[in-house]
Amino acid sequence: MGIWSKKSITALRAEAESSEGGLKRTLGALNLTMLGIGAIIGAGIFVLTGTAAANFAGPGVSLSFVLAGLACLFAGLCYAEFASMIPIAGSAYTYSYATMGEGVAWFIGWNLVLEYLFAASTVAVGWSGYFSAMLNEAGVHVPAAFASAPLTVINGHEVVRAFTCVDGTGTTLVDALTKAAYATREACTAAGGSPVEGLINLPAVALILALTFLLVRGVQESATFNNIVVAIKMIIVLLVIGFGFMYVNPENWTPFIPEMVTNPDGSTKYGMSGVLRAAPVVFFSYIGFDAVSTAAQEAKNPQRDLPIGMIASLLICTVLYILMSLVMTGLAPYTALGVPHPVSAALEAVPQLKWLEYLVNIGAVAGLSSVVLVMLMGQPRIFYTMSRDGLLPKVFAKVHPVYQTPAASTWIVGIIAIIIAGFFPLGLLGELVSGGTLAAFATVCIGVWVLRVRSPELERPFKTPLVPLVPLLGAGATLYMMYQLPGLTWALLGVWTAIGMTTYFVYGMRNSTIGKQEAGKR
Ligand code: ALA
Repeated sequence: MGIWSKKSITALRAEAESSEGGLKRTLGALNLTMLGIGAIIGAGIFVLTGTAAANFAGPGVSLSFVLAGLACLFAGLCYAEFASMIPIAGSAYTYSYATMGEGVAWFIGWNLVLEYLFAASTVAVGWSGYFSAMLNEAGVHVPAAFASAPLTVINGHEVVRAFTCVDGTGTTLVDALTKAAYATREACTAAGGSPVEGLINLPAVALILALTFLLVRGVQESATFNNIVVAIKMIIVLLVIGFGFMYVNPENWTPFIPEMVTNPDGSTKYGMSGVLRAAPVVFFSYIGFDAVSTAAQEAKNPQRDLPIGMIASLLICTVLYILMSLVMTGLAPYTALGVPHPVSAALEAVPQLKWLEYLVNIGAVAGLSSVVLVMLMGQPRIFYTMSRDGLLPKVFAKVHPVYQTPAASTWIVGIIAIIIAGFFPLGLLGELVSGGTLAAFATVCIGVWVLRVRSPELERPFKTPLVPLVPLLGAGATLYMMYQLPGLTWALLGVWTAIGMTTYFVYGMRNSTIGKQEAGKR
């Protein structure tokens, strides 16, 4: 009953095939692959690689990319089997509903909010940083009060009033040494600047607003925009890799895995354990390939094209990431990469590559905007499915009569994302996003095996190879990465789950369509 109720695969297939009052099917394999790449390449490679190399793994960060990429590939193969069997926009939420029951499905749906909605806000704030810096260089200044949220997080857990350090002309000043914003007001004043307190992160708000308009307007229109942006970011990533390799200094790669060092607080960095610790950090870079499965009801041939879209985008990005991290750690010593813009820091080490720095900024602005777009596309579609199942209010399932998009759900998600990105401190969110996503990945891996055992007869247009080995490796690797997350992230995940499960017992369980059907039969 209730929490253990499962949706039948036959009913789900019928739902997937019915197009009445539903979403518009316009996407093919190429568009789906581009959506995957759109969601994957973003803040992870443009920001986190540097921190992961400098703080944990040195040049061995490339191995961390291999490990995280393998874990995602195992999970991706499991996603592909489910997506081909049950092409429903609810993604991991729906797969869990069919295999482990309503309670687990809700838990996963709730975790996917971390993956999609919170990631959209987090990456929008990263985008705002790059975008404002680019404008700053061009002599156009976003007024400091409108360039950041009122609060920020320092030292990993302290929430303080945020400020931007500017000079008399309104130009943002950054610490010359670290290339990061000044940590204290005193340091800003000592450098001749004035600290201005933040009110709202307006560029992030404007980006989310514009992308929400586009997503309401049509999924095909959004896919076309995404294709253009993805082409730009891929060209720039390929230029960095191609030209970068010509100037690599192999000395920077030796030793490839630096010797382990003990930090003053007793923790360690580098060594093989550092490579393992960096894997969950760079895992963030791979998040998003599964967003392809939320377009299931807008794909022309979902059973064939969803697996192609997910696996192809994942493989392409894995190769690019490994090459990109090799180039970055080969151009500059890894210790120089722990800055907010590590790709630029790597290029700065080679005067002949200076010309690429401006292009990298364009690549980051393009790259991060498509991540926000695809995340803002995925979330309303999951809510749409949850609402059709009765677990969320009906308004989330409303489809626009002309554009055939889940318009109401898209607006609700857009407005929440705007509030989070515009006003809240996001410093804690990155690992929370990874935690929620890892929980969903592990559940999908286990679900594939459960369904193979329970219903071996079902038709599976795409089959995960080597079951149960691949699902077990996928679940093991994702659970291991979860285990590596810091205690604070676990505490926040606990609070998030408690809020989610309370909402389920108060609303979802009582309004569940299946729950009502079962009650009717009794
Ligand atoms: N993979 C996405 C990024 O790195 C979330 O921005």
